Amino acid sequence: MSRPKFYVTTPIYYVNDKPHIGHAYTTILADCLARFHRSLGDETFFLTGLDEHGQKVQQAAEKRGMTPQAHCDDLAPRFLQLWEKLQIKYDDFIRTTEDRHKKIVQLALQKVYDNGDVYADEYEGWYSVAEERFITDLEKESGQFREVKQIKERNWFFKMSKYQQQLIDYIQSHPEFIQPNHRRNEILGFLQKPLGDLCISRPKSRLSWGIEIPFAKDYVTYVWFDALINYISVPGWGTDDAKFKKWWPASVHLIGKDILTTHAVYWPTMLFSLGLPLPEKIFAHGWWLIGETKMSKSLGNVVNPLDLVDQYGVDAVRYFLMREMILGQDANFTIELFTKRYNSDLANDFGNLLNRVSGLIGKHFEGVVPVSDKLTESENEIKNMADGLPSKVKELIYNLQMNDAIEAIIELVRRVNRYVEHQAPWKVIKEDRVRAGTILYTATEGLRISAVLLSAVMPMKTKIVLDVLGALDSKPRWGELKAGTKLKSHEALFPRLEIK
Ligand code: ME8
Ligand code: MG
Repeated sequence: MSRPKFYVTTPIYYVNDKPHIGHAYTTILADCLARFHRSLGDETFFLTGLDEHGQKVQQAAEKRGMTPQAHCDDLAPRFLQLWEKLQIKYDDFIRTTEDRHKKIVQLALQKVYDNGDVYADEYEGWYSVAEERFITDLEKESGQFREVKQIKERNWFFKMSKYQQQLIDYIQSHPEFIQPNHRRNEILGFLQKPLGDLCISRPKSRLSWGIEIPFAKDYVTYVWFDALINYISVPGWGTDDAKFKKWWPASVHLIGKDILTTHAVYWPTMLFSLGLPLPEKIFAHGWWLIGETKMSKSLGNVVNPLDLVDQYGVDAVRYFLMREMILGQDANFTIELFTKRYNSDLANDFGNLLNRVSGLIGKHFEGVVPVSDKLTESENEIKNMADGLPSKVKELIYNLQMNDAIEAIIELVRRVNRYVEHQAPWKVIKEDRVRAGTILYTATEGLRISAVLLSAVMPMKTKIVLDVLGALDSKPRWGELKAGTKLKSHEALFPRLEIK
């Protein structure tokens, strides 16, 4: 029997500027999901990359006085370095300027053209030369656009409207397809109005930085028709049937809510035209905000993830982002919130538990994990909670409730801390060494299982914990901690942060 498969994608990011916390967030989320699925034995494919064509990138390059390609080649390593620092273990990384991608975009364009889903038409409208885009009558009246003129231009259109009813029917019969539910409703609402066709070309005279349209050499393709194809070009559509069959449809496209329409409307209609199945799920998460506004490159209010990692370490940054955002809602980013979360969950709960058990075992058992003897009701409570945790966490992760999954694990950590306080093994040891040993074994085993389950989120620190316990590569199953193991020495896992 083949193993379950999991194919997860992130958006491919524009290389108009350096990556910020928002890009780090989606990519870490994908990485945590991929690590979790790998740990369950699922065959996993995690794809991320860069969107290098289009107007935004061309303008960014012009601003720097560089060719677009040189600009992309200069910025791409910054993304790669950040992913390395953040412990992102992707399986493939696509840049849309690569040949392997460009030829597949052209194949897709030719296919939809041959299907009769593409036509040329004269388009007339207000065009802002400064902004290099068509604007609406309302935008023109706002007076905020410079160099506005009437342009009549011949362009190529994709018959998106043809697939409107098919898409509505699909979304209605597949409640899991667009998540969370309020986003699904948003798209269904949007689809109540007639859907227009999609302009998929840009004349080279206006924008040259793009993939040439195979049946219209004076045009390049609209950047979204290029970018979305990455999800099928990488797993082998048009080149490697076996590979493609193995991975497509994707299990989940992770995106921010800013690009919901392109993913939940443009992309499915493109796939309908290509005769391909739709991805199983499109999940749109909320935004990281600074105060009331979205953190964004164009607004310039960004937090640089590299600075955070240098100051607080990669695990704390991953932990905060994953724990703090309720998936689907917006979240605020402030250093105060970061410090609070770090001190409560990482310093006081998780780090403290390691300190306690290794300190007590060091002091009373020469640093050797004691034997667990008869369990009382208190130990059974901990054991039962730990026994039930892997399946609970698995269900939450499969449901993309990352913050809830983390909370469930930290709940065990807190429970074990309370248990140690309550049982006071430092007192029990004076009368009953066997009983004290059982208590410390139980606490250490609770810590070990928490660490195994948290390893997808905090790969570095949990590795330290498991190494101290001589339990690298152990499974989250009660009893795998071996009595007689000599604990290794360690430093404070998460030293408390001072609140400024
Ligand atoms: O849209 N909070 O690229 P992009 C949370 N190239 N996530 C954020 C965020 C924030 N403040 N800011 C950005 C593009 N993101 C296209 C995608 S896909 C075929 C093409 C994340 O560089 C979030 O995932 O503008 C969002 O959807 C994505 O970065 C947009 O990145
Ligand atoms: Mg954007």
